[in-house]
Order: sequence, then C-alpha cells, then structure tokens
Amino acid sequence: MKIAVFASGNGSNFQVIAEQFPVEFVFSDHRDAYVLERAQNLSIPGFAFELKEFDNKVAYEQAIVDLLNQHEIDLVCLAGYMKIVGETLLSAYEGRIINIHPAYLPEFPGAHGIEDAWEAGVDQSGVTIHWVDSGVDTGKVIQQVRVPRLPDDSLESFEARIHEAEYKLYPRVLRQLGVDEKK
Ligand code: GRF
Repeated sequence: MKIAVFASGNGSNFQVIAEQFPVEFVFSDHRDAYVLERAQNLSIPGFAFELKEFDNKVAYEQAIVDLLNQHEIDLVCLAGYMKIVGETLLSAYEGRIINIHPAYLPEFPGAHGIEDAWEAGVDQSGVTIHWVDSGVDTGKVIQQVRVPRLPDDSLESFEARIHEAEYKLYPRVLRQLGVDEKK
C-alpha cells in the first residue's frame, strides 16, 4: 500500500511515520514548511504548492489529485495539514484519506484542539485518527487514545504528552490499515 503524507508546517508526525514506513512523498501547502526539510533529510520526495498560486481551490486540489494519481497513492495521511479537504480531493480519494487530530473527537474539533481542551480545564484529552469526510474533524473514528492532564502540567507539558501519544498512534493505525513497515 503506497502512502503520501500531507503537512503544512513542522512535520514531526511525518518524521515518525517516515522512519517506520515507506512514504512515497510528502506534500505541503506551504513552500517554506519545515516538513520539506525533514523530507529532504530522509531522501523522500517533497512537493509543495500554495492555494494562492491557483485560480481557485478546485484547480489547487486537482493538481494534488494529479500528483496522487501519478504516484498511484492508496492512502493519504494528513498530519498537520491545515486546510479543509474540499470536494475535488474528497470525491477523488474519499475512503482513502485519514487525519490525526490532537483531541478526543468529537471533543474539541478544529484547529486548536490542544489549547481548547486546556482552556476548558479538562482532566483528560486525547488523540484521534479518523477518516476524512466533508466536515471538520467529523469523519468515522479509526482509533483514539486518552491523554491525561496532570495537576502540575503547563500547556507546554500537556502539549508534549499529546504529541507523544500521536507518535505512537499514527504507526499503530497504519499497521492496522495494512501498511507495510520499512524492511
Ligand atoms: C499535530 O498535533 C496534529 O494532530 C495536528 O497538527 C499537529 C501537527 O504537528 N493536526 P506536526 O506538524 O506533525 O509536528
């Protein structure tokens, strides 16, 4: 099963995935994203183009679909890809796109799952990997884990614990979905 990873920025989840699984390429919607440097260091092809370079989101996503088709990608792994997947990409790849969200969905959807949980004063949050549908963080859950907020946590230590859980969950889900690990 051939996988591609989409990320907008740092790419620490990409790094964890790419160390354990063969990744065909990484795509970023920001040309200066650090994830592209990580890809280069791992000798994995990186592609980037930005929505603003296209007439509209349909054309932008059509370019992504072309890239996926050229590489015969079976599974798209969103890992910090900060755009909502639109109709063009979704209709071409529905049922083949997964996303990681840093909260226990349906709790705290959206772009600030960690901060929102922190500000709500929860004593636990979590991490979710789900299929992508047309909503924001609404698709069917594949796996999720709870992450406690400890009494002496700062936002930073809480955030770090969530990320550690992400780094364990993504590989687990990829194995569950039948993605072969690196030889
Ligand atoms: C992760 O917390 C992920 O759950 C969220 O964005 C963050 C991306 O981090 N969607 P990184 O780019 O993988 O370091």
